Amino acid sequence: MVREKLYNRAQRLSCVLPLNVLGLVLWGIPGVRALNNGLAMTPTMGWLHWERFMCNVDCKEYPDSCVSEQLFMQMADLMVSDGWKDAGYEYLCIDDCWMAATRDSKGKLQADPERFPGGIRRLANYVHSKGLKLGIYADVGNKTCAGYPGSFGYYDIDAKTFADWEVDLLKFDGCYCDSLKHLADGYKYMSLALNRTGRSIVYSCEWPLYAWPLQKPNYTEIQEYCNHWRSFGDVLDSWQSIKAILDWSSSNQGTIVNVAGPGGWNDPDMLVIGNFGLSWDQQVTQMALWAIMAAPLLMSNDLRHINPQARALLQNKDVIAINQDPLGKQGYLLRKEDNFEVWERPLSSLSWAVAVRNVQEIGGPRFHMISLFTLGKAVACNPACFITQLLPVKKELGFFQWSSILKIKVNPTGTILLQINTPN
Ligand code: GLA
Repeated sequence: MVREKLYNRAQRLSCVLPLNVLGLVLWGIPGVRALNNGLAMTPTMGWLHWERFMCNVDCKEYPDSCVSEQLFMQMADLMVSDGWKDAGYEYLCIDDCWMAATRDSKGKLQADPERFPGGIRRLANYVHSKGLKLGIYADVGNKTCAGYPGSFGYYDIDAKTFADWEVDLLKFDGCYCDSLKHLADGYKYMSLALNRTGRSIVYSCEWPLYAWPLQKPNYTEIQEYCNHWRSFGDVLDSWQSIKAILDWSSSNQGTIVNVAGPGGWNDPDMLVIGNFGLSWDQQVTQMALWAIMAAPLLMSNDLRHINPQARALLQNKDVIAINQDPLGKQGYLLRKEDNFEVWERPLSSLSWAVAVRNVQEIGGPRFHMISLFTLGKAVACNPACFITQLLPVKKELGFFQWSSILKIKVNPTGTILLQINTPN
């Protein structure tokens, strides 16, 4: 299914860029080595409308869930009143389908006048007044994936428009752009155009996702231009989707893990915790593994209707601290045995996070024995360590020796997240 989606994406590629102009701008600037915009030093946290609200533009039939100013204002209010902002969720992000069908007479993008009567600038003011930041969406090609005006041929105008509106993040999609070179040139051009506006705008790319069907992406180059980048298909509200993302991430970890770090992150797509498709254990797995992977934490759910358990999971301070660890090293799958996956992530202060995932989907909870000397490059518990279980519930497991064996019980499809601290 995913392959088919990637193939369809390749089919949707169809833009041609003025290369002479691009060349001048891209290569005429000396010292372009890294997206050194000082942003996303830890993975971006916030809310993004796509997975939950998609391209619902029918405000008559769905007044409460169409993509509209009202929806974002309500989410902004809740992000503050319900503790999301305090937990670190800062960026309120608009995805596709915010635009009017055409640009204005000066070639500028404009919001749909009925659904966003105050325009994006007024929404940005509102969001800023709450102490939050606003994200917006556009596309490197001729059209957005949903068919709204693309930015091809308008990169400078669009970058300036977003800066004038005081937008703080741009998700730049890759539909309707037809060759690898044009895709790459477009993503690079927009990165530089955003920088030239002088405004701090986090740059969220889907460049590798659209490059993969054609050629293995050059991740070193991508992290020089983007603050985070999607490599894999869209997350759905299903366990199958979460598993596919995890499998892709571990299968490709040799390529993607080392390029991540402060300022540039692999983006496995939105958190769907608090929706309909995942069991409790599966929601725990998504939260634990997104923390291990140093993934942007962009929730796509309905903050007006979210159960207290999902909310507590998403706002879990210890787990967020792992995700946001200042060392900024992405975790990886250490081993897979007996239908358990053991993932680990190095943290600052010589600590480690370890996630043990029971991938067997038949039967009940099972035990897994971990020889502690095998964790954290043999140093996590050397000569001894203190282990705290963070998920599914917080529990201090106590002191262990390098030679100790830890016995844990994990539910099917669930994950136990541990933090290992070496006493000084
Ligand atoms: C693509 C992206 C999604 C979303 C939609 C919007 O599929 O990967 O995240 O932005 O486009 O149309």
